[in-house]
Amino acid sequence: MREKLNKDKIIIIDFGSQVTKLIARRIREFNVYSEILTSNEIKKLDNFNNIRGIILSGGPSTVTKGFFPKIPNHIFNLNIPILGICYGLQLIAKHFGGRVKSNIKKREFGRAELINKKKSNLTEGFFKKNKKTNVWMSHQDSVQKLPKGFSKIASTKHSILTIIENVNKKIYGIQFHPEVTHTENGTTLLKNFVLKICKAKKQWKLESEKSRIIREIKNIVQNKKVVCALSGGVDSSVVALLINKAIGKKLKCIMVDTGLMRKDEFKSTYKIFKNKYKLNVKIINASKIYFKKLKNIFDPEKKRKIIGNLFIQIFEKEAKMFKNVKFLAQGTLYPDIIESRSATGSKTSKIKSHHNVGGLPKKMNLKLVEPLKELFKDEVRKLGDSIGLIKSISRKHPFPGPGLAIRIVGSVTPEKVKILQEADYIFINELIKNGLYDKIWQAYAALLPVKTVGVMGDSRTYEYICLIRAVISEDGMTADYYSFPKYFLDEISNKIINGVKGINRVVYDITSKPPSTIELE
Ligand code: XMP
Repeated sequence: MREKLNKDKIIIIDFGSQVTKLIARRIREFNVYSEILTSNEIKKLDNFNNIRGIILSGGPSTVTKGFFPKIPNHIFNLNIPILGICYGLQLIAKHFGGRVKSNIKKREFGRAELINKKKSNLTEGFFKKNKKTNVWMSHQDSVQKLPKGFSKIASTKHSILTIIENVNKKIYGIQFHPEVTHTENGTTLLKNFVLKICKAKKQWKLESEKSRIIREIKNIVQNKKVVCALSGGVDSSVVALLINKAIGKKLKCIMVDTGLMRKDEFKSTYKIFKNKYKLNVKIINASKIYFKKLKNIFDPEKKRKIIGNLFIQIFEKEAKMFKNVKFLAQGTLYPDIIESRSATGSKTSKIKSHHNVGGLPKKMNLKLVEPLKELFKDEVRKLGDSIGLIKSISRKHPFPGPGLAIRIVGSVTPEKVKILQEADYIFINELIKNGLYDKIWQAYAALLPVKTVGVMGDSRTYEYICLIRAVISEDGMTADYYSFPKYFLDEISNKIINGVKGINRVVYDITSKPPSTIELE
């Protein structure tokens, strides 16, 4: 049973913006609990007791045409403060009789200069001394006529009604996105709304979440056994430690060695969990079968399917050997839950397959335990710290389920994996040594399926190209490449070429996501 959360909270209605999750994260950073609901879910909600504020997110819909997603009218009369962001603002304007128009000439994407026109509680400390600031826009529709009872707080050149408010009703609307870092001081604006206008209490603390999660695991699992696939990544490590705290030896962990992990990673993870944390860990050496099945497979999707299916087969077989196992633990995170529901009613969003181990629970007749399903990645890292997870795991960059197989473009062989492991090891160690590792969301080396000519000493070489990638990101949905100083790139190139036989050229990937993805396949 889910324990009742008797805490102040802010509800975010998701109309499908790519950055809705960031709103929830920012609010939790103020120690206030936030939850994302779809517009359908809010229709069914009948208890508003702990809800101190409602945020209407942005989204791809338009209020200028026939059907558009909305919230029930009575929500506007609950006397709960409301903040509309982008589409949310337009929805508020439409509801209260303002005029919203689509105008291709007045659309704004990216940075815009916002000018303050009137004082507001919402914008306290938000503008610079010259009453201006830079905000991040992404809209084609804009509010052209103020709705009744509202006043204008700020404008940009193309969008006169960029911030509006109705103080009596405590309803606010903004056209730009305060939740993205490109909006200067955006956090101040959200903080003003949540803490000053909604007066939400700071009752969300990871420490109390930790105890609640452990209690909940005990309640769910009772005296049954739980099986867990342990990879040594942050999520599965935190899941394993939490469940171990709750039920001890009734947790059975399985580690499958695919041969596709980073250098020494499998062995060191096993040692840490077995010796330091004293968990019940069984290891399965499956690298031979992985390499056999991946031989001459070039298509990325085929590779992913082969690796995923093989994992299921192996895991299922091993898990069945434990008696009385009734639960499967998974590291599902809050973003996975959000992504698996559709905000706009379309069927395009689905849970990332890596977090839902391909239908295993159903197939094996197991129930799921998902202790992290209400947390964001950074919260999971902090939770890991608070239960004694070593920093080298809690700060680890994300690593994809298919492992190095999707960082070796084209066919995968043990030889290529060995070459890549060495190059990746050098790159990552240099990042750590230079204090750069924690500044980067994800970094890795990859092997390209082309050989080029080089010269080393007096001999001609004909070897692989190593691509290095390092990106900064908030959640992996969008990313920018990291700007390394030239000396660092020189050093990496040198060290990889001198240290790894099989590579004679190093290139740095300078594309962001979009248009590229973080991984190569
Ligand atoms: P992309 O390449 O789609 O990656 O920009 C976004 C984030 O997801 C990770 N990723 C995966 N993680 N199994 C995983 O567990 C996968 O199949 C997978 N594919 C991509 C990627 O490393 C990045 O953090």
